[in-house]
Amino acid sequence: MKAVRIHEFGGPDALKLDELPKPRPGPGEVLVRVLAASVNPVDYKIRQGGYLSADALPLTLGRDIAGLVETVGDGVTGFQPGDAIYAMLDRSHGGYAEYVAEKAENCAKKPERLDFIRAAAVPLAGLTAWQGLFDQGGLRSGQRALIQGAAGGVGHFAVQFAKAREAEVIATCSGEDVDFVRRLGADQVIDYQAERFEDRVRDVDLVYDLVDGESQDRSWAVLKDGGVMVSTLKEPDKAKAAAKHARGVHYMAQPNGAQLTEIARLIDAGQVTPHIEAVFPLSQAGQAEQALETRHVRGKVVLEVQPAG
Ligand SMILES: NC(=O)c1ccc[n+]([C@@H]2O[C@H](COP(=O)([O-])OP(=O)(O)OC[C@H]3O[C@@H](n4cnc5c(N)ncnc54)[C@H](OP(=O)(O)O)[C@@H]3O)[C@@H](O)[C@H]2O)c1
Repeated sequence: MKAVRIHEFGGPDALKLDELPKPRPGPGEVLVRVLAASVNPVDYKIRQGGYLSADALPLTLGRDIAGLVETVGDGVTGFQPGDAIYAMLDRSHGGYAEYVAEKAENCAKKPERLDFIRAAAVPLAGLTAWQGLFDQGGLRSGQRALIQGAAGGVGHFAVQFAKAREAEVIATCSGEDVDFVRRLGADQVIDYQAERFEDRVRDVDLVYDLVDGESQDRSWAVLKDGGVMVSTLKEPDKAKAAAKHARGVHYMAQPNGAQLTEIARLIDAGQVTPHIEAVFPLSQAGQAEQALETRHVRGKVVLEVQPAG
């Protein structure tokens, strides 16, 4: 099978199309014929040498897949050959490949409303937003959430999930994305290049930080006393949290098939829709990562791995 791997850390050219043996599903795993995979910032950060040591190489990148179950391993219930599924993969697996053997518990039936390309855009970014807002942040109906970085992969799901939960959403993004984020349902949209969010918003119950740096530091000023700061990027400052009687959380998103099933329900009900900015063939995974890294990508970049037929 074809798979895109890195043999050394580096730029987009470090991604090489290799021929590898097809994996076999172990107990509790399903073998998936991957039709589409998506690209996340973690992929180019790993490629650049940000997370792993050279001992992990060669490595197939990619944490998101959508495809068809080909065979199931011992003990698998709930899936059978031919099922259309989507999944966020465990760290040890790579989605830029024609086949993946993944734990069945990490998989869910693909939303029926979406084709494979659009379904592959959902898992990692969608689970990150879900776990950040609800598991970590405890966001409830009627609360106010400030989403920093709302036009990107995670942010565009976060806006839609928070609205589906009937929260009030204030969102920041660059000027060219303001209309896009408004269409996602945000109640108030702030162009971070033109305005300071502190001048427009105050007393939010939850800040969702997808941006890091000074944006997180400045966000304490708009958080309600007793609120929560949730970050995908860095541990919130403990002293600043204590001064606000607030909780500060930094977390890593985890694969979760049950939550993907809940997300699929929202998608099929028309309450959440992934936005795809660009689609590249598997052989152009390097260009796809470069696009995510350097362009103002709205929503997601996806790889078409192989045709469905
Ligand atoms: N901990 C975890 O488990 C986890 C999981 C997923 C993602 N992450 C991290 O979370 C971050 C977001 O992920 P993503 O997939 O959503 O990335 P993404 O698709 O690249 O989106 C990032 C968004 O932030 C916007 N942005 C940049 N600076 C901003 C600012 N000062 N104010 C408001 N918006 C700003 C960008 O807009 P412009 O390009 O227009 O500036 C872009 O739309 C990444 O760094 C990623 O590595 C962590």
